[in-house]
Amino acid sequence: MEEFILIRPTSEYASQLAEYRQEFLDADNSMDGCGPLRRFGNPEEYIQVCKDYENPETVPSHLVPATQFLFIRKSDNKLVGMIQIRHRFNDFLEKYAGHIGYSVRPSERRKGYAKEMLKTALPFCKQIGINKVLIACIDGNTGSEKTILANGGLYESTVHEPNGDRDLKRFWITL
Ligand SMILES: CC(C)(COP(=O)(O)OP(=O)(O)OC[C@H]1O[C@@H](n2cnc3c(N)ncnc32)[C@H](O)[C@@H]1OP(=O)(O)O)[C@@H](O)C(=O)NCCC(=O)NCCS
Repeated sequence: MEEFILIRPTSEYASQLAEYRQEFLDADNSMDGCGPLRRFGNPEEYIQVCKDYENPETVPSHLVPATQFLFIRKSDNKLVGMIQIRHRFNDFLEKYAGHIGYSVRPSERRKGYAKEMLKTALPFCKQIGINKVLIACIDGNTGSEKTILANGGLYESTVHEPNGDRDLKRFWITL
């Protein structure tokens, strides 16, 4: 397996963030685990927003603090995945979205990267005091479900999320 690092977004990765975003737009694919990346054509603005979202003093009042990580392949310094860790629940997260969202760019899928990215991110959850991690995936998203199961996820229940009109499978990982 290749080696990877998880790092917070910085200007060094601005152009790669723009490419990552474009790849998802071109594929008409869900930008999970990227926070508000879809809304930001300017990566420098997005990088600043990620900082604002992590700080309890600056996160918008309707959101909880969250840490954004980039999953970087060391051999070529390439941004291959993104993962967002929400520090605590609000109603929506507790019922539906859970602590963690993630994605792997379409051109780098089916190489085990999502499994490795989640594994690499779990110690950070523990560090910030999350001992039981809730992750939810859309029923039928086999790649995500297998990623969660490979990291010790235990299925709890399936809930209907009315806004997106979708069924979500909830899993817990005990750290
Ligand atoms: C879901 C996603 C993160 C998986 O990324 P990935 O790097 O391709 O996943 P991995 O290569 O680590 O694969 C994990 C497992 O799922 C399987 N898998 C991955 N994609 C799959 C697919 N489309 N169909 C069936 N199985 C799939 C892999 O074969 C692997 O199985 P294994 O454990 O038996 O070997 C990626 O498809 C993605 O970014 N999708 C859009 C965003 C998303 O759905 N995020 C999850 C939100 S909860």
